[in-house]
Amino acid sequence: MSAALPPAPPFDARELAASAPRLAAAPAEEILRWADERFGERGAIASSFGVEDVVLIDLARRHAPRLRVFTLDTGRLHPETYETMEAVRRRYGVTIETYFPERTAVERLVAERGFLSFRESIEARKACCALRKVEPLSRALSGRAAWLTGLRREQSPTRTGVEAIEIDAAHGGIAKLNPLASWSAAQVWAYVQEHGVPYNALHDQGFPSIGCAPCTRAIKPYEDVRAGRWWWEDPANKECGLHVHR
Ligand code: ADX
Ligand code: SF4
Repeated sequence: MSAALPPAPPFDARELAASAPRLAAAPAEEILRWADERFGERGAIASSFGVEDVVLIDLARRHAPRLRVFTLDTGRLHPETYETMEAVRRRYGVTIETYFPERTAVERLVAERGFLSFRESIEARKACCALRKVEPLSRALSGRAAWLTGLRREQSPTRTGVEAIEIDAAHGGIAKLNPLASWSAAQVWAYVQEHGVPYNALHDQGFPSIGCAPCTRAIKPYEDVRAGRWWWEDPANKECGLHVHR
């Protein structure tokens, strides 16, 4: 879809060095305004429709209206996530570009390994994420100059190094912006209250982090926020491969 757009000048280490110090400490609004100016419709928000991502869409409608929005529909999302997607679509009038996994790859996976293969081993889980999330992400980013995420440093031990602006070497060296990198959960929820942002009903049922239905459970109040994601795995390396950090 974005292939028809004129090419944007590549984002490189020199530009990163020039812009990062200012943007690292800037409010999310300023990062978004800069992204709109620099990348326009060549930039896109990756939304899983967890609360951070809807806050990001709300902020972008105000400060970065040219940015696009895409989602990776793994085929295993919670029904509540589709409700949220539709609520967001209607509320903001935004087109949600949706990327599905390759049909034949999914057919082969379930024929060969069954419908719940991700429970069998970490390797099997990563194979499912690779097919349902990581490969569609590569397609979603093809032809784009930048992507934006709702990643926050506070979310996990694997995310403490997340910067407001990075170069994504794993995806051809395009820019990756994380405007909420420094936000706390309290800040996210204060924004939701203040602006009446629609949010996924699962957040009120003990799900601070929402991914695919079979791989996420509610957490207890004393548990870590990502404890419910792939809860059977070691917390030190629980990532699906969408985000590769230094
Ligand atoms: S994950 O890597 O463990 O699945 P998480 O659910 O915390 O990620 O989301 C982190 C960020 O990754 C989100 O804010 C969003 O930008 C992006 N993301 C995660 N899942 C999706 C998805 N299904 N579609 C689009 N973006 C996603
Ligand atoms: Fe597959 Fe679970 Fe990864 Fe979703 S989170 S892609 S169902 S392994």
